[in-house]
Parts: sequence; structure tokens; C-alpha cells
Amino acid sequence: MLRLDGKLFAFLRELHLKELLCHYDPGESNRPCITIIQVGKKKASSIYISRKIEACHRVGIIAKYLNLDETVDFEKLKDEIIKINQDNLCDAMILQLPIPQHLDKKKVIDLISPIKDVDCLTSSNQGLLFTQNPRYFPCTPLACINLIDLVFHLKKIGKYEPFPPASDLSGLHAVIVGRSNLVGRPMAEILLQRNATVTVCHSKTGDTIRYLKDADIVILATGAGPRTSSKVFRSGAIVIDVGIRLENGKLMGDLIVESEQLLAFTPVPGGVGPMTVQSLLENTFTAFKNGNKTPVNRVS
Ligand SMILES: NC(=O)c1ccc[n+]([C@@H]2O[C@H](COP(=O)([O-])OP(=O)(O)OC[C@H]3O[C@@H](n4cnc5c(N)ncnc54)[C@H](OP(=O)(O)O)[C@@H]3O)[C@@H](O)[C@H]2O)c1
Repeated sequence: MLRLDGKLFAFLRELHLKELLCHYDPGESNRPCITIIQVGKKKASSIYISRKIEACHRVGIIAKYLNLDETVDFEKLKDEIIKINQDNLCDAMILQLPIPQHLDKKKVIDLISPIKDVDCLTSSNQGLLFTQNPRYFPCTPLACINLIDLVFHLKKIGKYEPFPPASDLSGLHAVIVGRSNLVGRPMAEILLQRNATVTVCHSKTGDTIRYLKDADIVILATGAGPRTSSKVFRSGAIVIDVGIRLENGKLMGDLIVESEQLLAFTPVPGGVGPMTVQSLLENTFTAFKNGNKTPVNRVS
């Protein structure tokens, strides 16, 4: 049974991106740039943001951080987002979720220019994804599909490869637990685009186990409810654990690994998390390239 090392896989892809960026002028006006907005100071969000900023610095992406007060009103937040939309030096923008309840999340997200929306959360970018014409793949589902591709490649070749070929999932049953706009729904669309037969479970499904028993590929993305034992799954199943929860001060996923019959699983921490950060870097690089900044010869 394979324990997928998301940290190693992300590191290999990060090296590749760093190398690609060496071919661009090191001047600030010709580096990829992302702005991360945080409303309030939630500790978990601050930790995720610092991981993203550190990763940007490692590869040579400029990361700007805007922290707004917890009580910021819609108009002020709107002004800040519009300023970033209009900043020609900024290629990408993300709004760290969750945001405080008094703000209308959907309305705020739709203020982000779709060209800079590297999290693929705006209605426009979600529409493009769901009509099979994606501008960006959302970061966490992209991380998951890259991990699934890695499993099939590892099975065939036996070693980590930063860019495994896209796998065709014809004939395979994929079960997703969770139906959020951030993870579950776009994940279902991406798996469908790869020809998997997809079942989406959620809090109103009732007997989720019934579907999980039949799955070849599983995406667990709830972070809530009872954790799922690996014993539930059929022999040879691939389980990608997106869930994050804190129990007795310990970080854990939705999966309890207590059997050996799986083909592969992702650990928490060290599985989907580092790959999600890497997806953000790659989407920012795509936004940068689409902005027509030109590569120059590397100075030795
Ligand atoms: N590792 C990473 O990089 C990463 C990135 C993003 C998210 N996450 C984690 O992934 C998890 C999901 O994130 P999210 O943004 O999708 O969360 P979310 O918006 O809270 O959605 C959770 C989903 O789980 C479903 N659910 C809750 N309890 C359930 C149960 N007992 N049985 C079946 N389904 C259940 C909910 O169903 P209903 O729709 O019916 O309410 C909902 O669709 C969280 O733990 C989050 O922290 C990790």
C-alpha cells in the first residue's frame, strides 16, 4: 500500500517551476505576483497564508499580503479588490476563506477579476470549468487529480515523476464525500472530464458507506462528522484525504488508516495540503504567462 508523499511530489514540481522562472528577467516588474487578502486574523488562515507566501518566495513569485480588519465593510473590501484588479503588476489574487459572516461571500468573490482568480471561485471561472473550458483548475481539486495521476504513473513506472501523464479513468467509479464549491463540486467535474463515473455524497446522503464500498477512487472532503476507516474500502482503492480537523490538539484527516488493502492513500498532514499550495504557484505562473510578460535569456 502506497503512502503518497505530497510534500515530496510538491517539492519536485516546485523545483521545476523555479527553473522555469529562471528564464524570466529578475526585475520586479517581470516576476509573477500574487496578492493574498485576509479579512481578520483567524489563526488557521494565517498559518495557511504564511505557507503560501513562503512557497512563493522559494520559487521567485512576489507575494503581497493585505490584512483587513475583521469588521471591514463591503464597500471598503470592494475598493481594495478593485485596486488589485487594476494593478498591472499583480497577476493573481486570492481571498483567504472563510471571511466574516457579515460579508456576502459570493458577492465579494465575484468582484475578483476572473483573469486573476487563480482559486477558480468566481462565477465566471466556475462557469468555464463546468463547460469544459477552464481558465484555471481550482487548487485543491487540481492537487487531488495530480495525486491520482501520480498513483497510476507510480504503479506503471515505480518512481516519482513531477509531471505524470493525465490518466484516463474510464470504467472507474469515483466517490466524493463533500459538495462544496471549493472542493467537492469542481472535483466531480474534473473526474467526469477524465471519464470516471462519479458519485457525490454529502451530509444528507444518509448511508455514505454504501457508496464508498464500491469506489475505485475516493475523495474525502468533509472535515466533519465521523472519520472513515480504511477497512470500508475495496481492495486496490485509491483514497485522497482532503479533510482537515483538529482533535485533541492533533491535526488529522477524514480517513483512519487501519488496514493494508488500499492501492494508495494520502496522509494528513503531508498529502493534499502541500500539493494545494503548489497548485496555487502553478496557477499564478499561468496567470503571469497569460499577461504576456516575456522571457529573457538567463544571465549566468
Ligand atoms: N488540504 C487542503 O489543502 C484543503 C483545502 C481545502 C479544504 N480542505 C479541508 O477539506 C474539508 C472540506 O473543505 P470544504 O471547503 O469543502 O468544506 P465545507 O464547505 O464545509 O464542505 C463540507 C462538505 O462536507 C459535507 N459533509 C459534512 N459532514 C458530512 C457527513 N457526516 N457525511 C457526508 N458529508 C458531510 C457537507 O455536506 P452539506 O453540503 O450537505 O453540508 C459539505 O458538502 C475541510 O476539512 C477543509 O479544511 C483542505
